[in-house]
Amino acid sequence: MNKVIVTGGVGFIGSHTVVELINSGYTPIIVDDLSNSNLEVLDRIESITGTSPEIIVADVSDSEAMDDVFETHKDAVGIIHFAAKKAVGESVAKPLMYYRVNMMGLVNILEQMEKHSIANFIFSSSATVYGQPEKLPAVEGTAILPAESPYGNTKQIGEEIIRDQVSAQTGKLKAIALRYFNPIGAHPSGKIGELPLGVPNNLMPFITQTGIGLREELKVFGSDYNTVDGTAVRDYIHVVDIAKAHVIAMKRLVANAQEKNMEYFNLGTGRGSSVLEVIKSFEKTSGQKLNYSLVDRRVGDVESVYASTQKANEVLGWKAEYDLDEMTRTAWEWEKKIRG
Ligand code: UFG
Repeated sequence: MNKVIVTGGVGFIGSHTVVELINSGYTPIIVDDLSNSNLEVLDRIESITGTSPEIIVADVSDSEAMDDVFETHKDAVGIIHFAAKKAVGESVAKPLMYYRVNMMGLVNILEQMEKHSIANFIFSSSATVYGQPEKLPAVEGTAILPAESPYGNTKQIGEEIIRDQVSAQTGKLKAIALRYFNPIGAHPSGKIGELPLGVPNNLMPFITQTGIGLREELKVFGSDYNTVDGTAVRDYIHVVDIAKAHVIAMKRLVANAQEKNMEYFNLGTGRGSSVLEVIKSFEKTSGQKLNYSLVDRRVGDVESVYASTQKANEVLGWKAEYDLDEMTRTAWEWEKKIRG
């Protein structure tokens, strides 16, 4: 049946990955507590793929609930673990919530995998593990600096926990950590996309919400960085490209094709874009001017980060296909759809 347990499968990256898994012949079993998502997404996944995925509503940090999930689905070929808290600022204010959900959730899943002899694990990691790298582009071997937020720390510690468990369980557990740069955009069908609750922290949803009139003005945080136009540079990557990388990674694990039992891959385009470049792209693809102003830097932001994608390109055989205009266009189509 090629069952894959997908924690956080109703969320932004999770839902796009569930679509790609179904399209590739896998049977995703979603585990999601719906704390930052909505059951309607399942109907939308069905209307894209023709399949309604099974969902178990449960919190990954609840060990008894995870026991039940894995008892029922111990025949799964692998796990993709998205379920986690992800807001940097919130993590500074509520660190224990971040450590509970992100760390206990991970430990529970790994314990269940050991108990039921499930070997294949994919972890949602982040470019945040690099902080501001001394040299760009960031390569997977770049030294990991102390984390800049509890959220970032949960990704660093998460990778370490997996690494330790992989080495303790030699051959019985194989893992791939995928380090996402800045995932944006939405499914080209216009049926699934990002659904941030409240005021968005991230750039793309803030832009589209300003474009649609939900926010008055975008504040561009920092215009005195040492970059092409003074605004901060990130490696934006389309969510469908990210989703496809998970399927490729799962196939690699299932086929036992790894070079090492734990591998790390950057998922980016390899191209940095400034905040103003993203705004320009949005203005072009939406055909409207965006209301924005330049303000002070945001505390904790790094100046510039973008990925070396060589390892993912050569070893995984994966390459990002969507460009920035397609990212802003699909994000805008999605925003219009959900507010329409
Ligand atoms: N930005 C603005 N105005 C906004 C929001 C963002 O100017 O209203 C700028 C930010 O200052 C930054 C860029 O847009 O320069 C991107 O900001 P995001 O918040 O979209 O993304 P970040 O790069 O800050 O955050 C991402 C991930 C986090 C991760 C972090 C680590 O979303 O999960 O990278 O670098 F922790």
